[in-house]
Parts: sequence; structure tokens; C-alpha cells
Amino acid sequence: MSEGRGPGAVVAIVGATGAVGIELIRCLEERAFPLAELRLFASARSAGKTLRFRGRELPVRELTEDSFEGVQLALFSAGSGTSKRFAPLAVRAGATVIDNSSAFRLDPQVPLVVPEINPETLRGHRGIIANPNCCAIISITPLWPIHRVNRIRRLQLATYQAASGAGAAAMEELRESTRAYLEGRTYEPRVLPHPYAFNLFSHNTRIDPATGYNDEETKVIQETRKIFGDGEIRVSATCVRVPVLRAHSMAITFECSQPITPARVRELLREAPGVKLVDDAERNYFPMPKDASGQDAILVGRIRNDISDPDGRSISLFVAGDQLLKGAALNAVQIAEALRTG
Ligand code: A2P
Repeated sequence: MSEGRGPGAVVAIVGATGAVGIELIRCLEERAFPLAELRLFASARSAGKTLRFRGRELPVRELTEDSFEGVQLALFSAGSGTSKRFAPLAVRAGATVIDNSSAFRLDPQVPLVVPEINPETLRGHRGIIANPNCCAIISITPLWPIHRVNRIRRLQLATYQAASGAGAAAMEELRESTRAYLEGRTYEPRVLPHPYAFNLFSHNTRIDPATGYNDEETKVIQETRKIFGDGEIRVSATCVRVPVLRAHSMAITFECSQPITPARVRELLREAPGVKLVDDAERNYFPMPKDASGQDAILVGRIRNDISDPDGRSISLFVAGDQLLKGAALNAVQIAEALRTG
């Protein structure tokens, strides 16, 4: 596309009725993204529904092979299968695609972009740009300012992931199963593999028998390397689903090349774009999903030395970020904005 320069592009959202789709619509509206027209697509189940944008009810249409005629920018969030099938068609019709699924993230031809970290990789795009995994975005955006000045050699993280990452139906399952639990009713999980209310479980993706890591953990490991442009960084993750609606939290420990202090980390993060320090030891007030929900910024706190590293090169901290915003829709819209401004 002409990258939407000028009066505004014709923009399509694929998966407009989903948890991320709804936030994409809201982000475009709140950030006053310049667009000539917004077209909303979902499955046949949603055809005929309407969704509100800039004070008007817009129709949701069934996604078909002809949906992209005249579209210049297409924001996809309808799962990998839909992206694999329809994103190439959108590109062929002349659109630039920003894809929230994992379908193209590791394709060397496809930029995997967090605008605060690697906006320069957008320059070489060939029509498809990938929006990274939500945990990857939320964990590494605050680490980038540190990595730039004192290379992170090793990174370990444990996640506390919200329902929203598994879509709108999983959020509903959390609400419904919590209600059932409190009322003493039995509830059969429909979306997630285990009881969700007052419980937590290892992330609901496939375990690779060769490594013992689940797909979510593998994504975080591989995507961190690609986004940082650092194939050497050693990463390990344990991803867990917790009964929280829409913000992911993570306990992170990283080891730098040179010694580093918590004060230096605070100093670097105070100025960092997209990050907010919430690090009040006196009040024991640190990042919480309740505070991160609905916020653009990733909250960072509990910044301290990892005392198991006698060399003083390691830091532990805790982050919380809205999975639907910076972890998905907001990052995608920021990519679209970066494309416009070049
Ligand atoms: P629909 O609401 O019609 O099922 P979530 O991640 O919250 O589960 O949302 C998934 C989004 O992807 C929804 O908007 C859903 O539409 C859409 N979707 C799922 N399958 C398809 C498909 N085959 N074609 C187009 N949109 C799809």
C-alpha cells in the first residue's frame, strides 16, 4: 500500500468480534488513526452483527476471498489458520497486513515488530508484518533499554497469564466457572483443558516432547531472539495460565554482560517508552494485573539484585501488562502508525 499516507487508508479488521478485534477498533478510535473507511470481518456466525466505531454502527461481514478489494491496511486477529489462508490474499489485493497470529512470526521475510524496540525492521517488509506473542512483548519491552547498554546474556521468566490470551470465550469461561464455583454448581470446562476458577495450570499449548517446553514457552524464546536481533541470548520460560481476565504478569530474572545495580535499572526504565515504574517497597505496592488492565504502559517493579549471582550481573523484577492492549491490539496499531510516519 502507499502505507496509508495522505488522507487515510481503507482499513480492515479480520476477527473484529474477538477479544483482540474489539480492542483494535477501540485503539483505532482512541488514537484517532487516520482512516478513510473501516471494514469489519469475522466468521459467518457474526455476519449481520454491528460494532460501534466513531459514533456509528458498522456492519460485521463474513470474511471471504473477495473481502480485501480496495483495502490498504488489514489487521488480522482471527487465529493462525485464518491468517495463513487469507493474509496472502490480502497482500495480493494490495493491502499491508499486520498479523496478530503466530503464522508468520518466524518467517525470515516477515518483520516481527515491537515499535519501541525494532521499528527499523519495518522498512524491508513484503506485505506482511507480524505482531509478536503477547508474553514476548510484555516481558521484553522493558528489558530493551537495559539490553542496549549492558547486553542481557541470559533471561529466565515465569508467566502468570490471563484468560484473554485464549480469546473471548476463555474470558467468559473464567467468569462462568467462577460463578458456578461460588454457587456450588459443577462446571465442565469447554475452552480450556482444566478447571479455571480458583486454580492455575501449565499453559494450554502442546508440549514438544523433544524439549519439554510448551508452544507458548517456545514462542517467547524464539521471538525474543528475533526481536532483539540477538541469536545468542539464552532464554528459558515457564508459562502458566492464572485466573485473571486480561493482564499478564511475569517474574523475570536476567543476567547482563557487566555488573548492574537496581538503581541503574530504575534510571533506565524511568525514561523508557511504554513502561511505567510501580516499585514502592514501603507500601509493598508493585505491578498487579488489576492496575495493568486497560493501561497502555507495561508496569515494572520489584527491581532487585538476583542474590544467587555473586558477580552482581543479575537482576530480578516483576512486570504486568494488558494482554489485549500492549500484548496485542495496541502494539498492532502502533505498528500501523509507524508505517504511516515511515
Ligand atoms: P466469530 O466471532 O464470528 O467467531 P477470539 O480470539 O476472541 O476467540 O476471537 C476470534 C476472532 O476470529 C473472532 O472475531 C472470530 O469471529 C474470528 N474468526 C474465527 N474463525 C474465523 C474464520 N474462519 N474466518 C473469519 N473470522 C474468524
